[in-house]
Amino acid sequence: MPNESLTERVSRPAAELRRAYGQFATGVCIVSSRALPDTGVPFAITVNSFATVSLAPPMISWCVQKDSTSYPLWLDTNEFAVSILNSRQSALCEQFAIRGNHLIEDRASFRDSALGNPIVREALATFDCKVHDVHDAGDHSIIVADVVDFASDERHAPLTYFRGAIDA
Ligand SMILES: Cc1cc2nc3c(=O)[nH]c(=O)nc-3n(C[C@H](O)[C@H](O)[C@H](O)COP(=O)(O)O)c2cc1C
Repeated sequence: MPNESLTERVSRPAAELRRAYGQFATGVCIVSSRALPDTGVPFAITVNSFATVSLAPPMISWCVQKDSTSYPLWLDTNEFAVSILNSRQSALCEQFAIRGNHLIEDRASFRDSALGNPIVREALATFDCKVHDVHDAGDHSIIVADVVDFASDERHAPLTYFRGAIDA
């Protein structure tokens, strides 16, 4: 039953499933990429689907929704950075969660990673990544990537996401 939606499978409203998923407290990340040749502007998206995958070799993953306006950009880029937001960075979280708002026009909150991807200043941790594989997964694609560089700053508290709300 590959085309059956989850809510058809369990015969319950999607909103109920969303609420159940929301019981899993997560951090919040900005995934960001250097400009592609045809856009000329770096781009970013707010995500909470970041997951660590492998220590040796170092690999991480995140999921991008197929109906995101930024979806074609993520399939096009070979590399990106992940920045784990600190508790005072809710404005960045909100900015890159706005529909259609993924271009980084103002780079004040960012600096360049070793690979040349924008990374968020004062993030808890940053990972510079090269795309390893993209897997189809329902209404999302899972992007698995090799970590080629990272940094960690333990001075700050995390921004968290729980029951559909940001908690600084
Ligand atoms: C806390 C939070 C976590 C999110 N996590 C994801 C995610 O893991 N993957 C994803 O594709 N979108 C995620 N989104 C949604 C995107 O940030 C964005 O709002 C959405 O893609 C709508 O804009 P778009 O259609 O232009 O992409 C998240 C939003 C918020 C506020």
